[in-house]
Amino acid sequence: MNTRKFPQDGREVSEIGIGTWQLGGAEWGDVDEADALNTLTAAADAGVTFIDTADIYGLGRSESLIGRFLADRPDRDRFFLATKLGRNPTPGWPDNFTYDVIRQHTEASLERLGVDTIDLTQTHCIPHEVMQSDQVWDALRKIKKAGLIRHFGASVESMDEAMTCLDVEGMASLQIIFNVFRRKPIEAIFTKAKQRGVALIIRLPLASGLLAGKFTKRSTFVETDHRHFNRDGQSFNVGETFAGLPFERGVELADELKQCVPEGVTMAQWALRWCLDFDAVTTVIPGAKSPKQARDNAMASSLDPIPTALHTHLRRFYNEKVHADIRGKY
Ligand SMILES: NC(=O)c1ccc[n+]([C@@H]2O[C@H](COP(=O)([O-])OP(=O)(O)OC[C@H]3O[C@@H](n4cnc5c(N)ncnc54)[C@H](OP(=O)(O)O)[C@@H]3O)[C@@H](O)[C@H]2O)c1
Repeated sequence: MNTRKFPQDGREVSEIGIGTWQLGGAEWGDVDEADALNTLTAAADAGVTFIDTADIYGLGRSESLIGRFLADRPDRDRFFLATKLGRNPTPGWPDNFTYDVIRQHTEASLERLGVDTIDLTQTHCIPHEVMQSDQVWDALRKIKKAGLIRHFGASVESMDEAMTCLDVEGMASLQIIFNVFRRKPIEAIFTKAKQRGVALIIRLPLASGLLAGKFTKRSTFVETDHRHFNRDGQSFNVGETFAGLPFERGVELADELKQCVPEGVTMAQWALRWCLDFDAVTTVIPGAKSPKQARDNAMASSLDPIPTALHTHLRRFYNEKVHADIRGKY
């Protein structure tokens, strides 16, 4: 597993991390505890050191499972833990953005994760107008000073929000949607993020599984999977499901890309390698539900970069075939 420097920390983190929204067991169908713990173990044994979670994933379940996983690992200090806050329903918006509640939510995450300090706390897609005021950032700066967190960052939906956050004093990272179907960040923020020393954490690198090339137009998802209930943005930002593409269109586009994947490499690995080919990227956090997925994904780090001619072809593919179909904030 290759590593990259988390700019404002200086520590190295695995360039393939793991996203653990799935381990909440609430919005990706059921993932039982044994599968969740085995998935984390497989990722760690394959060299993954960067773990992304949020207080809201399964209302604390994802963080608690990570806490249990870490408690059994003698090498627990090598993991870089990134969580998020801001979307907890108790007390909800706008009270979630006050210092007292941010502190309370941070303390609850510390307890569940079983650590004294959280490496990175990210705001969890909070409203743009809140990002534009200092209230949340002042609170996070204070909590950092008190030693509860090492760094704070922001998970954002649009590039306008990303630009707002890049100007915030002390901002250590941005978490963005970026994949073969979502190229806008390259021109919108990569240069500035590098100049500012802000880490880029890549979510939805597989467009919710589309870029694993495993779906057909007839694929279905259980009712408790957001790919069933948020397919067209009925519950939250449509961009978080299939990267904003209508499902059937996403399947067609993924099918077209299959011919670009070299022999001996899975399409998921290839899609992750594409993200890693950009040096502004710090870590890519594919979500995984099984040890096999976690291991496959980690192996993307050892693949050769994608040839320049193919990168050029994919840029054209995006401009001509993908861009117009993306829905939601971007
Ligand atoms: N607002 C936010 O801040 C926000 C929003 C979304 C995500 N995130 C974070 O980003 C992480 C990644 O995003 P995501 O999970 O939504 O999307 P993703 O990583 O693009 O897709 C994850 C899904 O892809 C499939 N998959 C993963 N590895 C595979 C493999 N090797 N082979 C075949 N299929 C594979 C699995 O689908 P199946 O379930 O069908 O097996 C998995 O559930 C999340 O876990 C979470 O930590 C944050």
